[in-house]
Formats: sequence, structure tokens, C-alpha cells
Amino acid sequence: MTTETLDLNLVRGSFPILASGYIFADNAGGSQCLATAAKRVADYLLNTNVQLGADYSVSVTSTQRVADGVEAARQLFNAKSVDEVSLGSSSTMLAENLARALEADVLDGEEIIVTGEHEANGGPWKKLAARKGITVKVWHATQIASSPNNPYAVSLQLETLLPLLTSKTRLVAFTGCSNILGTITPVKAYTTAIRARAAELGVRKLEVSIDCVAYAPHRRIDVQDWDVDYCFFSVYKVYGPHIGALYTRLASLQSSLQPLTHHFLPVKDKSYKLQPGGPGYELVYGVTAVPDYLRSLSTSSSLEDAWAKIAAHEQTLVAPLLAYLKSKESRGVRIVGEETGGPSRAPTISFIVGGERPIRSKDVVRAFDQKGNIGIRYGHFYAYTLVDTLSPKIDIDDAVVRISLVHYNTAEEVQTIIAILEEVLA
Ligand SMILES: Cc1ncc(COP(=O)(O)O)c(C=O)c1O
Repeated sequence: MTTETLDLNLVRGSFPILASGYIFADNAGGSQCLATAAKRVADYLLNTNVQLGADYSVSVTSTQRVADGVEAARQLFNAKSVDEVSLGSSSTMLAENLARALEADVLDGEEIIVTGEHEANGGPWKKLAARKGITVKVWHATQIASSPNNPYAVSLQLETLLPLLTSKTRLVAFTGCSNILGTITPVKAYTTAIRARAAELGVRKLEVSIDCVAYAPHRRIDVQDWDVDYCFFSVYKVYGPHIGALYTRLASLQSSLQPLTHHFLPVKDKSYKLQPGGPGYELVYGVTAVPDYLRSLSTSSSLEDAWAKIAAHEQTLVAPLLAYLKSKESRGVRIVGEETGGPSRAPTISFIVGGERPIRSKDVVRAFDQKGNIGIRYGHFYAYTLVDTLSPKIDIDDAVVRISLVHYNTAEEVQTIIAILEEVLA
């Protein structure tokens, strides 16, 4: 189906700021916004900024625009129905709401499994467990067998998850892609294995929650194919406005979740159940620009094709950067995450500089900041537990240097990044 490569002129022309020449390499923190998304947000505010649901003409238009935004998010999840999609200010807030809504359906003695990845899909479940007095287990990232010499080459592996499951497991919450390690989790394969094990163990009810925030800018989400119950991502990292989107499988919405809304609202089968108050309507309308943009990247207007092109282009960014960092092993550079490119590697690349002449992550980033036309970042990026449990230990406050690229970055930009690193590591 994919016959051509990504049209980088089309891509970069869609983000006016890129014409400035500034190199955005902190995209896992937030991507640049499509001009079309910004225009739609402004258009909503300037022309249709009224409350939804009334019968007068402007309200009819605003209602339709918001419905179009929810439909756009549905497409990005590949959910069956718009009733499975709710929107809110951030993924963190949506996940916290989800945990609150699930609370009554988690029974005494049941267990929850989380990862050490971004706290958004950990904290709400840990807090829920604390409120209910139930057990939380942490599925830690462990050493990748093909990289035995680098203790920081770790990933989430099924072999370490399966023994954590018991007949009491109620929820497994994991990430679709690590925002530090850059590894894309095989969500479908893992979910299938989790469900099979749960069936053997006679689990009462097992649900799976996927954090797709670091995944969504790079690959196609497919909640139906993955067979997951909950999934969320942040549109502001997928080239749109600052808003988050949550998928809840209809069956879970109906049977597992209590409404967070006013008691008199008719919410039984509606994702509105999880929206205590409206999300920013102009931002919801802005979401419509994202699938439109993705389709424009494909000659067949196919989202699958667009994502395949994006993934292929991103590999041309991943490969040279990883190869360069790996070549600096004797200088003390350690990649934190998978050391090689490939289908399971997003262009989110973290590392530390240790060895005999260590350099703090902060100082590596400062050298980039001094150039003035490039943005990268250091820290734990809220994957606190992951970074804190790396062994040998690294300073949690200094943590890792992260260079996070997306499809609008270019091979030339990667060469610029490598040239700066070359100076820093001299
Ligand atoms: C993997 C991951 N999950 C969750 C979040 C939280 O997203 P939000 O800022 O929308 O709450 C982030 C933000 O950086 C993230 O990288």
C-alpha cells in the first residue's frame, strides 16, 4: 500500500514555525501545531463561540463542529463509536477521572499492575489502590538480551509481566511507547497474552489501560485490533491543540464505570459520562485538523498509509543517531533504551554520559541551549519510577538527555545534532 516516501515539503509546509529553521527536538514534550489546527481553533472562537445544544443556527454549527472533533479523535483511536471517546484538558486528567469512575467496580482483594513509565498511567491506579486498600504490583523494564553490556538497555518484557498476574488481577496499565526508552510496546501481542493468562487463572474481570501519549505521534493506534479497554493520548503531541483524548470500550463504559457527571444527565451509554464539564470546544474542533493532515500525506487518503510513511521516515532519523551514540560507548555514552533502530523503535532517544569523564545531562543540554536554535531537554520526564530504578543508579534530578524527533524532523537536523554532540563529547 505504501508506494512513496513522505513528502517532506508538504509536511514541513504544514507547520509554519519550521520555516524559521529552529530545530524542534523535544517533541515528546509537545509537538508543533498544524496551521490548519490553529486556524480552526481561531475560527471556532471568532465565529461559533456559543454554548452547544441550542436550536439557533450558530449553536447548531458549534454543536456540529464539536461532534466533528470527537469523530476525528474516534478515527485516531480507530474506535467503533464516538460514544467511546471522551475529551479533556490532558491525558493525566483523563486517566485520573477514569480511575475515579472505575473505583466502585474494583473489589476488595483485587490487584492492579502498573509500570514505572510515565506516572499518568501509574499514579491514578496507585491512588485508587491506596483508597481501596488493594495491592499494586510494578512491572519493571528489564535488560534487553541482545544488549548484555549496557545495563540501561531495558524494555518492558512479557516474561516479567506474566508472573505478576494472579486470579485477583483487575487491571493492567502499561504504555504503548515509552517516553524515555522510545520502545514501542507490542500492545496487541501483550494484551492477547495477558487475556489468555487471565482466562487460565479464572480472573473475574480484567481490563487493560494503555497510555498512548508517546505512541500516538509515531504510529497508528488501533484499539479494536489491540482489544484494549482504555487508551488515551494527548492531541498536543500529535500536531494539534492542547487537549487529551480517552477511549473507553463501550462494554466497559456501560458496566465498569460510574458517571462523573451531574446525576440528572442521561449518560448511560455515552462517553460524556466521563466528562464532568465540557472540554474546550474550540480545541475539540481543532482536533479535526489532525486526521485531515494525516490523510493529506497519503495519495490514497489512507491513515494507515500515512502512518506507514511516517514510521519509515522516522527510521531514517533513528538509525544515524543511535549509531552515533553507540559509537561513543568508549567515551562513556550509554543509550537508555533499545540500542538499535527497527519497527519497535520510535525516534525518542535518551542517553547518559558516564565513564571516566562523565558529563551531567544538564550540561549536555546547556551546550545545545547555547546554540540558540535548537531545543532538547533532560530529566526523568515523569517516568520517575523507571529512571529511579535503573541500575547502576543515576541521579534522578539529572536523569537522562532526551532527543525526541518526529516525522517533520530531517536527516540534516540529525546531522546538526550529531555535530553538536561531537563538540560536547570531545
Ligand atoms: C508517555 C506520557 N504519558 C502521559 C503524559 C501526560 O500527558 P498530558 O500532558 O496530556 O497529561 C505524557 C506527557 O509528557 C507522556 O509523555
